[in-house]
Amino acid sequence: MLTIGVLASGRGSNFQSIIDSIDSGFLKAKIAVLITDNPDAYAIERAKKHNIESLVLKPKDFTDKNAYYSCIAEELKMRGVELVILAGFMRVVGKALIDQYRNKIMNIHPALLPSFPGLHGQKQAVDYGVKISGCTVHFVDEGMDTGAIIIQAAVPVYHDDTEDTLSERILKQEHKIFPYAIRLYSEGRISVEGRKVIIKGGREDSLLINPP
Ligand code: GAR
Repeated sequence: MLTIGVLASGRGSNFQSIIDSIDSGFLKAKIAVLITDNPDAYAIERAKKHNIESLVLKPKDFTDKNAYYSCIAEELKMRGVELVILAGFMRVVGKALIDQYRNKIMNIHPALLPSFPGLHGQKQAVDYGVKISGCTVHFVDEGMDTGAIIIQAAVPVYHDDTEDTLSERILKQEHKIFPYAIRLYSEGRISVEGRKVIIKGGREDSLLINPP
C-alpha cells in the first residue's frame, strides 16, 4: 500500500479530502505523517481526529532553506513515505526535498496552470477576466508551479464572481481531482516523459472537465 506524507500550512480541506478518500476505500493508501510550517494550522486538528502523526517544523528554527528541507526529507524518509502531497503548503519547496523525491511530490494549485501561478490564483483569474479557470495537480520541480501537469479540472468564471465565490467553486473540484491523482499514482498508472505526464489505461483520465 502506498505510504504518503502530507505538507499543509492552513485549513487542510484538501488534506481532509484525502483522509475521506482513504476512509471510503476510494484510495488505497496510508498517511504516515502531516508536516506543517504553521503551529496554528487547522490541518493539525484534522490529523489528531484521525490519529495521524503531525509535526510542526518552522523555517525560522533552521539555519537556512537547505537545512529546513533536508530535515523534512529526512522525517519523510524515516517514515517510509513514497509520495509527498502538498495540500495548501504555501512555500516554494527547496531543492533538498525535491532531489530526494523527484516526480514524487504532488501539489494542488487553484488555477489552470500555466495561467496564474503563485499566490491567490483565484483572485488573479477574477481580476484578469477569464471565463474559465479551475485547478491543477502537478509534480513539483524547482520552479513556482511549473512542474509537469497530472490532471486539471475546469470551472466557469462568472462576471460577478469574487475571489471567494470562485475559490469555493474551484475547491469542490480540488477535492475530487487530488485524491484521484493520488489514486492513479498508487495504481502505478502515472509516468513522466519530459514535461508530459502519461496516464496509462485511458487518455480521458488526464482531463477532467467537470463544471458544477
Ligand atoms: C487550496 O485552494 C489550494 O489549491 C491552495 O491553497 C488552498 C488550501 O486550502 N494552494 C495554493 O494556492 C498553492 N499555491 P486547504 O488548506 O483547505 O486545502
